[in-house]
Amino acid sequence: MKVCIIGASGKLGQYMIQHALDRGYEVVGVCRSQSVHKLGRFAGRMSVVDGQTDDPDVVRRAVKGCQGVLTVLVPWGMQNYASGTAQAVLDHAEPDARLVFSCGWHITRDGKDVYSTGLKALVRVGGFFGRLTRLVDLDDQVEACDRIFASDRAWTVVRGSDLDEGESEGLPLWSEHVGDPVLASNRTRRTDFAAFMVAALSDDTLVRKAPAIVGCRTPSALAHGGAAAAAS
Ligand SMILES: NC(=O)c1ccc[n+]([C@@H]2O[C@H](COP(=O)([O-])OP(=O)(O)OC[C@H]3O[C@@H](n4cnc5c(N)ncnc54)[C@H](OP(=O)(O)O)[C@@H]3O)[C@@H](O)[C@H]2O)c1
Repeated sequence: MKVCIIGASGKLGQYMIQHALDRGYEVVGVCRSQSVHKLGRFAGRMSVVDGQTDDPDVVRRAVKGCQGVLTVLVPWGMQNYASGTAQAVLDHAEPDARLVFSCGWHITRDGKDVYSTGLKALVRVGGFFGRLTRLVDLDDQVEACDRIFASDRAWTVVRGSDLDEGESEGLPLWSEHVGDPVLASNRTRRTDFAAFMVAALSDDTLVRKAPAIVGCRTPSALAHGGAAAAAS
């Protein structure tokens, strides 16, 4: 399979590159020019298209011939970076390509997610200071996901919990809604988030779903079949 990773130079992107290469996939990465050096350790094992991830021309060139596209949606700046990135992928990916996008638990597809007071406060405060400093626009990540949800493409939006670094624990568990008991621990290793994104490319049960994920060895996951379920 040939896959494109959009936002390849970030932490999640680099883990996704490694997982995709481990599966024997051909990998094309897109990242900003000033970040190409971050991909040095993959030299010779992947190709890189440098440019802004919301540039339709950059995305069109990168996704050509790819059966899968993995996109890191980031709400940086006030120029609709996340929604521009999502739109470019929706517009230019091959017609039958599997499209997998990353975001956080704060994104809701159907409004049935139940958020803790802490998470609601974090999103409110983060959103306020992000807009104040003009560094982060959480509303644009919401807009990006709304466009994906409205699309008839073969998409999956993977909603990450709080993240930790560290060795893999196994493929995360997922549930339809934040607030479901299995997700209560709200922790996932970043490498496992990336592995879930890559695995979603070949998992048709996740098409047009927005799984919220949690580490398979966290207490809430273990209480619901955890590591055993992830291993099966
Ligand atoms: N961080 C968390 O705790 C957390 C929790 C849940 C879900 N998530 C989701 O996980 C995904 C990855 O998040 P992450 O925090 O782990 O970040 P990350 O993987 O390190 O990725 C950050 C991305 O943002 C790009 N970026 C940084 N500054 C930028 C700027 N000024 N303009 C444009 N792009 C810029 C980076 O590109 P360069 O390499 O070019 O700088 C990189 O591609 C996101 O979809 C996020 O919503 C994160």
